Amino acid sequence: MKRPVLLAALLLAPLGAVAAEPAAIIQTACARCHGSEGIATVAATPHLNGQLAAYLADTMQKFQSGQRQSVVADHIPATLTASEITALARHYADSTATRPKQETDPAKVQRGSALYFNRCVDCHAESGRVGDDDAPIMNAQNLAHLSVQIQAFTEGKRKFVSLMRDSYRDLSADDLDAIAHYLASTDQYATPGKKKKRRRADGS
Ligand code: HEC
Ligand code: HEC
Repeated sequence: MKRPVLLAALLLAPLGAVAAEPAAIIQTACARCHGSEGIATVAATPHLNGQLAAYLADTMQKFQSGQRQSVVADHIPATLTASEITALARHYADSTATRPKQETDPAKVQRGSALYFNRCVDCHAESGRVGDDDAPIMNAQNLAHLSVQIQAFTEGKRKFVSLMRDSYRDLSADDLDAIAHYLASTDQYATPGKKKKRRRADGS
């Protein structure tokens, strides 16, 4: 029970004290699942490295307020302040660690690629490598995590944001599984250039 005690010591610092360093909070509260640089160390857990800081901070606030459900109890403790949340988000967003390669099914990847360019590319742009303030970066994301989240959306456990609901319309569970394989198969730092466009036109 060392960790909770340490965490309590960190988080219950006297009022007016400087905010705890993000690296210290991460070591105590996050690293055993997300790693110190955002590479997940546990199955079905998202990689956080290189993710948009705005999305990370927004999600942490939603976990903290209960607006987004989490499988992790007390995922973002109430004692974390808004500025500590911002600092944690920035730490992971700035991490240049590389997401590990995963095993994916080539047939699903090919099918998922076509579906992705049809349905998801507008918001999760450039094979998921580019997001915006709301929509997260998703390339090379943990496959099991993608599957769990996609299912959470389709089962209504996680709320669709903006027009994402329309993009899922009439897609079967197999279609969505194929898209997850495609996203998981992509290279985190591959720069999409002319080559990618050509590949897109080929439909492969
Ligand atoms: C026991 C393992 C565990 C610990 C500890 C943990 N997380 Fe998580 N985290 C998860 C899992 C699993 C998810 C997938 C969503 C869920 O909760 O169902 C997740 C999701 C997230 C997400 C959303 C990512 C996305 O792509 O939507 C953020 C942000 C996050 N965690 C931040 C943190 C931070 C910051 C800490 C430390 C204060 C932390 N987590 C501690 C397991 C953990
Ligand atoms: C209109 C924009 C839009 C479109 C189109 C869209 N999404 Fe999203 N997506 C979002 C936003 C915004 C979020 C963040 C939701 C939140 O904050 O909870 C998101 C989140 C997700 C997540 C959660 C990632 C994580 O790490 O937790 C998955 C998975 C996802 N989208 C899959 C898809 C798939 C698959 C498609 C295509 C079938 C798609 N999205 C199309 C906007 C979009």
